[in-house]
Amino acid sequence: MSAPNKSYDPVEVEALKPEEIARMRDAAFAAFAAAGDLEALREAKVAHTGDRSPLALANREIGALPPHAKADAGKRVGGARGEVNRALKARQEELEAERDARVLVEEAVDVTLPHDRTPAGARHPLTTLMERIADVFTAMGYEVAEGPEVEAEWFNFDALNFPPDHPARAMQDTFFVQGAKTADTSSAAGKEDSGVVLRTHTSPVQIRAMLDRELPVYVICPGRTFRTDELDATHTPVFHQVELLAVDEGLTMADLKGTLDHMVQALFGEGMSTRLRPNFFPFTEPSAEMDMQCYVCRGESVGNPDRPCRTCGSEGWIELGGCGMVNPRVLTACGVDPEKYSGFAFGFGIERMLMFRHNVEDMRDMVEGDVRFTRPFGMEI
Ligand code: PHE
Repeated sequence: MSAPNKSYDPVEVEALKPEEIARMRDAAFAAFAAAGDLEALREAKVAHTGDRSPLALANREIGALPPHAKADAGKRVGGARGEVNRALKARQEELEAERDARVLVEEAVDVTLPHDRTPAGARHPLTTLMERIADVFTAMGYEVAEGPEVEAEWFNFDALNFPPDHPARAMQDTFFVQGAKTADTSSAAGKEDSGVVLRTHTSPVQIRAMLDRELPVYVICPGRTFRTDELDATHTPVFHQVELLAVDEGLTMADLKGTLDHMVQALFGEGMSTRLRPNFFPFTEPSAEMDMQCYVCRGESVGNPDRPCRTCGSEGWIELGGCGMVNPRVLTACGVDPEKYSGFAFGFGIERMLMFRHNVEDMRDMVEGDVRFTRPFGMEI
């Protein structure tokens, strides 16, 4: 700050000369005009109107002037500062308006865009078919039962009357996971420690159902099963079965046959029937292979070369799966008295049923997860 100046002439105080004040004001105008956005304008504001701006510093010089000169200099500096502030405000409004216009464009939401056209996912037809089958049985009073996919050997084989060296064990192309920790399977823990396999069928769920539930037992067990098959058009190492078990007093093969007939009628239409052919399973006695009447030709293609049927290969029957009366040894292994109770069971593969029900030619389509395969089956939830 200058010392008091008796021979007053504000022009002589360099910072207060009119052309200096005008230059500072014009520099502020130019800086505001050059600021391209609000951030740049904020910097220009500090530089030209802040405490250390040229005009603020010039203003301080006024204090050092003799009283009679203050008014003149004050008017000049104050006038310039007023102009600068107005210019700043005008530019500020201009840039804010520009920003608002830009935000409106950039962040515009087109409220007329459709919001409900995301394609809904389709459930896998294997899942919907298993649920449909389960529905047929829950409507008759059956309960859905589940069991582990990584299963103890005792449940997958021993309890189902497969002796340790029985060829049927190998027949099932088992994925063996872990050896047995104990040979004593008399306790519940021993049964669980009897070796680990990926379950080769849903039949171990029969065993768990009999051990866990009160009699009588009526359960349907849909689930994933595993065998060491290569993936090709007709095999997959991971597949699905539905198992059914009924244990009650006085059940006979006639009950089994009636139940099978009802199932195929519910799934494939009125008048459909099944037939049983002798077969062997260690866990059922007697055992049978079950066929259903071909729901497409209803047998009319048999011996009728003019009307061949692709679905049943003109056989008139389609093989569904296995069934039989629960072997008394299996009942005994589960603590059920075979003198008092009898049971029937059946099990079949869902992939096979999906193939002939919907003319799916290649099983690989079912495992690849391509929505182009699942979508035509519909969007059932
Ligand atoms: N578990 C048998 C299989 O996978 C099918 C079956 C189930 C047979 C129940 C009879 C009774 O081949």
